[in-house]
Amino acid sequence: MKLAVIGCGYVGLVSGSCLAEAGHEVIATDNDPARIAALQAGKIPIYEPHLDIVLDSVVREGRLRFTPDAAEAVRESDVIFICVGTPPTESGDADLSAIDHVARMIAKESRTSKLVIEKSTVPAQTGEHLKRALEIYATTPGVKFRVASNPEFLREGTAVEDFFHPDRIVIGVEEKESEQQLRELYRPILEGQFRCPVHQPNCPPVATPDFVVTTIASAELIKHASNSFLGLKISYANVLADLCERLGGNVEEVTRAVGLDPRIGGKFLKAGLGFGGFCLPKDIQAFIKLAEGAGVDFGLLKEAELVNKQRVGRLLEKVKKALWVMKGKQIGVLGIAFKPNTDDIRLAPAIEVIRRLLAEGAEVRATDPEAMERARAVFPNLRYSKDPYEVARGADALLVLTEWEQFRRLDWKRIRKEMARPLVIDGRNMLRPAEMRELGFEYMSFGRPDPSAVTAGQ
Ligand code: UGA
Repeated sequence: MKLAVIGCGYVGLVSGSCLAEAGHEVIATDNDPARIAALQAGKIPIYEPHLDIVLDSVVREGRLRFTPDAAEAVRESDVIFICVGTPPTESGDADLSAIDHVARMIAKESRTSKLVIEKSTVPAQTGEHLKRALEIYATTPGVKFRVASNPEFLREGTAVEDFFHPDRIVIGVEEKESEQQLRELYRPILEGQFRCPVHQPNCPPVATPDFVVTTIASAELIKHASNSFLGLKISYANVLADLCERLGGNVEEVTRAVGLDPRIGGKFLKAGLGFGGFCLPKDIQAFIKLAEGAGVDFGLLKEAELVNKQRVGRLLEKVKKALWVMKGKQIGVLGIAFKPNTDDIRLAPAIEVIRRLLAEGAEVRATDPEAMERARAVFPNLRYSKDPYEVARGADALLVLTEWEQFRRLDWKRIRKEMARPLVIDGRNMLRPAEMRELGFEYMSFGRPDPSAVTAGQ
């Protein structure tokens, strides 16, 4: 099939590359000409494991190309994926101006009928507006538009693998023809026989995904409902962690046993600094707003959002309690990205932690395997180092803010020797309390008891 992908951000780039790898002919465009020029020169603007391999191969084989000319992309395709940003406005609603702009552009430039698919995360009923805009602004007589919703469930850091081996593919459609077209488009993935470049021959077989066909409004709701529920789970685990700290439980023991019930599930119950990134926090906020607009008070999500916003404060309480005076203290930070395996720092808890530490007069030195360049744009004067041991050198405290595997594997004995005071505050419950205490650290994490007081289960 001939596909256009409009918007070469995170979702557009991954989806476009993977759809090309699945055998389609893809033409991708973006309103940032510098981004397109970089992509044409083979430079990928984001760090996403395996994306370079897929992109290289599909560009080389001529199945994916980039153009700054959106009209060209529209005219040369039968199916158009809208993958533009829907950032939050001041009030927390999703800003849909980019979708509106793209809808009018598609209507104006199309010379043949198209299937137009919303892939960007949008509030329910956007499909209705999209359809209307396409009809109103169409310029060529006889051209018809069908609209569908196909929400994305990719996780940053594992997006390529998630694309080829999803749990489910959700499509919201109005016409049988759109369903058939989308089923055909995803056939290589639905049949589970797709040659995924990430999937090694010795990988276990992959379960074939569910193909879920719904109305457009349901598909739009499914995306917001999924991300919001993930946020709910995390906040629930974080409140449990606070309770464990007060009552002497261990949150890992509690969430592990709770999660063994398949009705609950063990994933996304990891306590710590809370959820960041450009999806969960923004989608919860937009969902609350959407509900409000529909006359429904989603107090449950408001509480989850509030709990999440308080996590940075909870970490800083621990830091202050241990360090007493913050001014002039040297603090090392391990991890800036909102989660491991990405360079994305948007709404990363670490950014807020660093901002507040600096405001209190602490001297911060930070490291992250991939996110330092982006962090430099936010904190140009911060001291950065590629070397975690240098970050620990002379530090009064070391904070773990992103659980990169590289940090877990550090020579912690050596880290201890480098530090002025061997104090580690682990915002991601990445390290083992008993081991850290044995190595001579003062160690704090979330919802796990002081190791010196623990005898069993550690
Ligand atoms: C999220 C969803 O997981 C994807 O399914 C969705 O497609 C994507 O948003 C999107 O809407 O585009 P992502 O933002 O990449 O994916 O990150 P997650 O893996 O969901 O993690 C979000 C945050 O929650 C991270 O800061 C992570 O550290 C935190 N988290 C995650 C916890 O604090 N505890 C957990 O148990 C799990």
